[in-house]
Amino acid sequence: MRIAIDGPAASGKGTIAKGLAEHFHLPHLDTGMLYRAVGLSVRDVPELSFEDEAIVAARSIDPSRLDPDKLGQARVARLASRVARIPKVREALRAYQVDFANQPGGAVLDGRDIGTVICPDAEVKIFVTAGAETRARRRAEQMASQGYDIGYEEMLRQIESRDEADRNNPAGAFYMADDAHLLDTSQLDIEAALRAAIVIVNQAMAGQPGS
Ligand code: C5P
Repeated sequence: MRIAIDGPAASGKGTIAKGLAEHFHLPHLDTGMLYRAVGLSVRDVPELSFEDEAIVAARSIDPSRLDPDKLGQARVARLASRVARIPKVREALRAYQVDFANQPGGAVLDGRDIGTVICPDAEVKIFVTAGAETRARRRAEQMASQGYDIGYEEMLRQIESRDEADRNNPAGAFYMADDAHLLDTSQLDIEAALRAAIVIVNQAMAGQPGS
């Protein structure tokens, strides 16, 4: 079974994807980490060679050696958003994601273009979303608990600007697939959101409509 999870920053898609992978005993790939790793590796590269270096980095990335602690930082997210606009970077990261999705037994992937580009024939697609204010509050609390006190207002500004950049990404398809199930987590805590996602998957696998 292939499960494609897409959605904007801090919607809860990563936690839901991880939870679904555990529940259904499937391997999980957080595809944002690939873009973040490319972004981090070109953080000090001058503007003039930024694009070329990002393409080189994307082609030589080792997905088995990603460090979630380093890659989780807000400034890495901004770099990820920048490199995600480069078509050859997306192309270089694509084969690994497609192979991961199509491994025997299936997988759970989360990102921005999983249900539309990477795995358009996934058995289950979920588009996870929440209002920008909710996402900013959640992410600010999460960062504060890790010792990064960014504050709600600044986090809201960053989330809105990343939403805008992702929405208008000329190189990527960031939209909800026609056959995706919408899961709005604005009013749900993470346990309730995961339960709702499990119901969606079970119903989809049982061939039931309307989840
Ligand atoms: O999901 P996460 O916040 O880690 O993603 C970081 C950035 O990587 C996103 O803002 C987006 O620009 C980019 N990305 C993407 N396609 C994906 C996953 C992430 O363009 N499948």
